[in-house]
Amino acid sequence: MTRDELAAHLDYMRELGVQGVSRAAEWRARVETPRPAADAERPGETDDMPSDEALAAMPADTPPAAAVALAPAEALAALRQVIGPACTRCKLHTLGRRQVVFGVGNPQARLMFVGEAPGEDEDKQGEPFVGRAGQLLTKIIEAIGMTREQVYIANVIKCRPPGNRNPEPDEVLTCEPFLFEQLGIIQPRIVVALGKFAAQSLLRTTEPITKLRGRVFDWRGASLIPTFHPAYLLRNPPAKREVWEDMKKVRELLQA
Ligand code: URA
Repeated sequence: MTRDELAAHLDYMRELGVQGVSRAAEWRARVETPRPAADAERPGETDDMPSDEALAAMPADTPPAAAVALAPAEALAALRQVIGPACTRCKLHTLGRRQVVFGVGNPQARLMFVGEAPGEDEDKQGEPFVGRAGQLLTKIIEAIGMTREQVYIANVIKCRPPGNRNPEPDEVLTCEPFLFEQLGIIQPRIVVALGKFAAQSLLRTTEPITKLRGRVFDWRGASLIPTFHPAYLLRNPPAKREVWEDMKKVRELLQA
């Protein structure tokens, strides 16, 4: 990291309301990729694959779980294939979207971010959160000592609505099952819902984001933390302070 980059990072931290830094080990989020023991027991991810002899001894009609369950990376690849590169399940494919924006990151991430829908940059590049809001999200991730590669990032809907309008109910209904599949495969410990739309969709509520943020919800066994959308922070920088409070909570839960 150059001096200028370091200075920019420190400026950003100051903007977020960070008053100082600590070298204490517990200050950093645990970011190692291997999962804790309980998670490592998922079929397909253990070293305890049955031996060839054991497999041969099994009746043909009872496939061993390890032989049929896919590891998260493979399961995500399979899901991406099921959706297809040119999905036509909802009307967005007729409304100018260039491509399906599936999701990006570590298939075994402990932390997952969920946004609303791809914008223009994401539609062009095929990756979520790569525009200005995405660059801010990257900084937010780095502010808790993690990288984009260590987390997983996806949206409630996978195609860009025209003119960045809000996704419509039929589009959400059609597409959100794929997000739920992604969440089920990755099984993150923490889900950060970015903005009103993601938070309300995941929590099945119409409560405003101002009422939802600052709280931790249970979402199918994961901790769900609603926070402001990075695009909102670009319009309203003082709200970065609240997002930093939410991210401190994320860091604390990752360390627990
Ligand atoms: N906003 C979102 O909600 N998602 C993206 O991928 C980009 C911007």
